[in-house]
Amino acid sequence: MSETKPELCDACNNSGWLRDGACECREPWLLARRLEEAEIPVTFEASTLEAFDTSVSTSAASAHAICRGIAERGPTDTGLLLTGPAGVGKTALAVGTLRLMIENGAAGLFVAVPKLHRRLQKSFAKGARESESEVMDQLIDAPVLVLDELGARRYTSYSNDVLQEILGERYNDRRATLVTTNYNASELGPRIGDRLMSRLRERSTLIEITDTPDYRLRLQGAAPTDQRPPRIHPRDQIRFDA
Ligand SMILES: Nc1ncnc2c1ncn2[C@@H]1O[C@H](COP(=O)(O)OP(=O)(O)OP(=O)(O)O)[C@@H](O)[C@H]1O
Ligand SMILES: [Mg+2]
Ligand SMILES: [Zn+2]
Repeated sequence: MSETKPELCDACNNSGWLRDGACECREPWLLARRLEEAEIPVTFEASTLEAFDTSVSTSAASAHAICRGIAERGPTDTGLLLTGPAGVGKTALAVGTLRLMIENGAAGLFVAVPKLHRRLQKSFAKGARESESEVMDQLIDAPVLVLDELGARRYTSYSNDVLQEILGERYNDRRATLVTTNYNASELGPRIGDRLMSRLRERSTLIEITDTPDYRLRLQGAAPTDQRPPRIHPRDQIRFDA
């Protein structure tokens, strides 16, 4: 996380408390801790809802408005299912939503599903740093959870069971999950199974970001994806096979 992480201070003897209540160093210190514990990837550290450019498309602007509404309400049992092609801002919006909730006092966690599977695989190795149940409990107990890139791969039945258990427990305890995926709702169902899909749909606001250029290309300074390269008449093409 950031190098300028706030610290507790001498005035309170590094306890965060004064005789008549909390010291002013306590709140920024707690916020920095919650942000650190959220494990937001470095690439998305600057992703806030404020920083999100709503001029890219109508669907991205309305996705942004819904995310803001959910974030401002704080953790409830209503989650998000953010769908759309690559680079349209799904992860940026999910992180922005999580971040605002954390700034408003909630605790939360970011997990990319492919990385979760690697962590679980490692947990079975001898002398592993963390056990399978520790990994799962962290995800089940997080008051807000971002599950990024759901359905990116076809899952083994073990992976699917794990996801079902995590989402099932969260669902039972009415904790919201913010999910991003490259698949639309009808494509995602067959990939993750009907039970998981129906749990997700019941308590999630479905947001589809469509007709939005890949923002990564813009960040690289390249032409938007919807601008095709100019067509060259066959007469003017250079032939390499001549
Ligand atoms: N509307 C936007 N305003 C500002 N930055 C954006 C916007 N949309 C995307 N970005 C930035 O562009 C990059 C790609 O966006 P992001 O990773 O959120 O896309 P994605 O939809 O999650 O793509 P993928 O499906 O490949 O995971 C990120 O650095 C993100 O912060
Ligand atoms: Mg993403
Ligand atoms: Zn202090």
